[in-house]
Amino acid sequence: MRSAELDEFVERVNERTDIYSVVSRYVTLTQRSGRYWGRCPFHNEKTASFSVSPEKGLFYCFGCGAGGNAFKFLSLIENITYFEAVKLQAQRLGIDLPEKKSSPEEERRRREEKSLFKINEFAQDFYHECLIKTARGEIGRKYLAARGITEETIETFKLGYAADDWENLLSNLTRRGFSPEQIEKVGLIAGRKNSSGFYDRFRGRIMIPINDVFGHAVGFGGRILKSEDDNIPKYLNTPETEIFNKRNLLFGLDKSNRIIGSTGVAIVVEGYMDAISLFSAGIKNVVATLGTAFTPEHAKLILKYARKIIFCYDSDEAGQRATLRALPIVQAAGANVFVIKVPEGKDPDEFVRKNGKAAFDELIKNAASLVDYRMNYVLARADISTIRGKVTAFREILPVIAGIKNPSVRNEYKKKIASALALDEQLVDDEWKKFSSNANAEKQSPVKKIKSLSTDELLIKEAQESILRMAWHDEETLDYIKFHLPREIFTETQREILSRLEEYRKQGKRLTQISAADEFSEEVNAELSRILIDGADDPRGNDKELELFYDSVDILRRAVLQKKYETLLAEADEYIPSDEETYKEKVRESLKVRNEINKLKISN
Ligand code: GTP
Ligand code: MN
Repeated sequence: MRSAELDEFVERVNERTDIYSVVSRYVTLTQRSGRYWGRCPFHNEKTASFSVSPEKGLFYCFGCGAGGNAFKFLSLIENITYFEAVKLQAQRLGIDLPEKKSSPEEERRRREEKSLFKINEFAQDFYHECLIKTARGEIGRKYLAARGITEETIETFKLGYAADDWENLLSNLTRRGFSPEQIEKVGLIAGRKNSSGFYDRFRGRIMIPINDVFGHAVGFGGRILKSEDDNIPKYLNTPETEIFNKRNLLFGLDKSNRIIGSTGVAIVVEGYMDAISLFSAGIKNVVATLGTAFTPEHAKLILKYARKIIFCYDSDEAGQRATLRALPIVQAAGANVFVIKVPEGKDPDEFVRKNGKAAFDELIKNAASLVDYRMNYVLARADISTIRGKVTAFREILPVIAGIKNPSVRNEYKKKIASALALDEQLVDDEWKKFSSNANAEKQSPVKKIKSLSTDELLIKEAQESILRMAWHDEETLDYIKFHLPREIFTETQREILSRLEEYRKQGKRLTQISAADEFSEEVNAELSRILIDGADDPRGNDKELELFYDSVDILRRAVLQKKYETLLAEADEYIPSDEETYKEKVRESLKVRNEINKLKISN
């Protein structure tokens, strides 16, 4: 059900949405004759036939026919529904979603969650105070200083210290009125095994608060100070709780999401310390996984803010394997994936501390594309002394190359890999065919090609569009069309547009509202955008448009009559051998139609 509140929300987002900023996040646009042009992101092209009109709030591709408003663009490019696109844009603009009426169960859950956040917040403050103010925290301060972590960074991330004590946090939190059962729910304490009572989970560790994207305190990572004892894990994380699920949490995202959104790039690292270190070095579009594999949920989370994801995992074998595992996940999610391999076997934290921000920026600039990275990885490990080894390597890369959407880029890589492996081209082609007939991965393009038209058809098309443009801007036109033109003269899509316009007129809706709040079918969207993006902003007061409109009515009427005339003549012909009277009658009728045609201003 669509409520008035929801309409109002969509309208609010629409008012503040500028299609130029929405599109230019994805497409490089240049200005030419009052419009912006770029290479269409929905089909492959060399010349720019994709146009954006900020005044009209529309985009349209003259190459493939994709078109619509800003939300339509977002929904196509992000592969999400129309309403999800509205919500995404709202998020990017910082507009709150309208409050949903929630059930008592949801209400209870939210209250419960809130109280769990609260406990974590208190614990966060407690650990933080302990680190920066107490004598017990000195050992933590020294450790962080030795790692080059400044006081400012400690503040930014609210880093803390958990003293080496069994009930330090427990006694503090219970004194503040939280029950042990509640505290256990967020994983900060655990029940004793051999006696009753509880003990602190985190002891003698640097505490790294973990927030969800909204900044709610959901858990902690705790790093041991010194690890002479190999049985003690270096990092201890909050266990899975109602509010802590590593599959869909990314460390740092609460702080980096805005800058990830504005730069369009997210850097993913493996370790908390890597993220903290890069962030404080000024590379702020960074997130870290929580010591687990990168999941599709992580990909989705990042894709809300940026399309380009750069992986920067440790350069050891484990880190590289983790990178490889993550890549298909992000690629499948529709991200542009790149990989940074930190030189000299360092992790990002060590590298940026030793070499500085500029050096890391250089690494970002030279990040390898997903395909290059895969190719290098496979080539570095391939046994190219045998045909068998080479074919194995080639097969390993095939799916990656097949995932490239641009055919010419795809071909380039096919050639590149064939030459790098010194493989016979015929063999490469055979393998390629085998693979693509199996996978049949090519998805159908969401947009249709425009077929070429004859001059007559073009005239009619232009006329139909001029009339629809007028109808969009001027409701009275709808009546005019009704009396002067039969519906059949319009295409099915155009008829749909006309009846939608009439429907809205009955409801007394303004058309500018419709463009924002309504999801039209693919065809209607494309057709409307194409029609509206050409021509004057408001054709009503425009002499040229008015003249075009009346000419258009004549052209269409002529087309209708012409068809009628031809039909009558064809019918007449059928009576030649049998019924002379009917034959003559049909011919007379056809001549009347002929006369009407001649009376029209436009007759060629
Ligand atoms: P530093 O040694 O402090 O620089 O750690 P790091 O941030 O560089 O992390 P590292 O590369 O050693 O590990 C990457 C991530 O894996 C860490 O940030 C943790 O999330 C996780 N991790 C590492 N060691 C452990 C461990 O012993 N137990 C658990 N549960 N997670 C770990
Ligand atoms: Mn490290």
